[in-house]
Amino acid sequence: MNKLKKLFYVLVKYAGFYVYFGPARIRALFYSLLFKKVGKKVFIFGPFRCGAPENISVGNEVVFSNNCVVGGDYGVSIGNFVMIGQNTTIVSSNHGHQLKGVPMLRQEMYGSKVLINDDVWIGANAVILPGVKIGQGAIIAAGSVVTKDIEPYTIAAGNPAKPIKKRFSDSDINILLDRVKSPLYRYYKTDYAKKFVPRFYEADK
Ligand SMILES: CC(C)(COP(=O)(O)OP(=O)(O)OC[C@H]1O[C@@H](n2cnc3c(N)ncnc32)[C@H](O)[C@@H]1OP(=O)(O)O)[C@@H](O)C(=O)NCCC(=O)NCCS
Repeated sequence: MNKLKKLFYVLVKYAGFYVYFGPARIRALFYSLLFKKVGKKVFIFGPFRCGAPENISVGNEVVFSNNCVVGGDYGVSIGNFVMIGQNTTIVSSNHGHQLKGVPMLRQEMYGSKVLINDDVWIGANAVILPGVKIGQGAIIAAGSVVTKDIEPYTIAAGNPAKPIKKRFSDSDINILLDRVKSPLYRYYKTDYAKKFVPRFYEADK
């Protein structure tokens, strides 16, 4: 009986995993047909909406939580190991509004590319505006509206989002920024990197 129970729990556990993550993987595979690029192990939880998907590129190991919106008109580039909280909106375009007497609807759009670097965590309900660059390792607090670039390893919060603190010391941040340039970066936290490149982990102590 105990064995049966165990088997039942294992089945529920694995089935639960596939029921929860499966559709998000399938959605990512679908968007890999439309996006400029989609890396490995990308999860897109639904509902997900986007415009100009041909201008959106997504790296490896990226998660879009439920209800994200991405406007790719002027380009959106997302790096590796990025987590995007639920209800986040990323836009790369603005409506023209400078001409007098012309309805804004009829004015030309303008905008520029949004760049989200590796290892960024974007909290729920954030809005990322056109042209913004979010540095590696930065955190965007829940509900923030990001209007300007955010430095690497900085936590930014509010509307407009302002830096509230750095995650680590400047010297550690420099080591971490160097890691990305290493061809070993993609092996990060694997036994291979731990054994052969201990320098990789200096900043982790
Ligand atoms: C930013 C965050 C990670 C907190 O980081 P933290 O290092 O623990 O920061 P603290 O909680 O110590 O807060 C530091 C300051 O920032 C403020 N702050 C924290 N989150 C904030 C937010 N979302 N908006 C505005 N201010 C915020 C705090 O009030 C505090 O202000 P104070 O110094 O005046 O008291 C967290 O608040 C957050 O927004 N997480 C996102 C959670 C989320 O969206 N999860 C679901 C998606 S995965």
